[in-house]
Amino acid sequence: MTGAASQAYGEAWYWDERYRKESGPFDWYQKYPALAPLLRLYVRPHQRLLLVGCGNSVFGENMVQDGYQDVVNIDISSVVIEQMKKKYHDKPQLKCIIFVPNIQTLNPYGVSTAYYCIISCNLQIRRWM
Ligand SMILES: C[S@@+](CC[C@H](N)C(=O)[O-])C[C@H]1O[C@@H](n2cnc3c(N)ncnc32)[C@H](O)[C@@H]1O
Repeated sequence: MTGAASQAYGEAWYWDERYRKESGPFDWYQKYPALAPLLRLYVRPHQRLLLVGCGNSVFGENMVQDGYQDVVNIDISSVVIEQMKKKYHDKPQLKCIIFVPNIQTLNPYGVSTAYYCIISCNLQIRRWM
């Protein structure tokens, strides 16, 4: 990975291009089974979770399989969100939506702005809230 490429990690065009070429799924960092015991300690199955920068990871899918009922996947790449919407169209417990500039503007998408737990690998997330 060159410096220029890693600088593009925050850019939608970079991820759009990448997700057009690479059909997932792929989990970059921690996989759900590794974090499940920790999550179970703090988050009840009915509590709403937001996964920011979901990519084509199966983290949310695994959570739903494990009994979580209200998981929202969000990503800056419209390409991956379209892929994820198709993949999970029959899973109402797992919504997939395009990233919006501010968490308060999620309402028009029919998605709440209140979350019990937010999970992200994106260090910029605090600026968004
Ligand atoms: C390294 S991938 C990680 C994907 C997944 N979370 C995983 O762990 O496998 C980073 C993801 O964050 C998304 N992303 C980058 N900047 C973002 C932002 N400002 N808001 C939401 N998603 C963003 C990218 O489109 C990409 O899908």
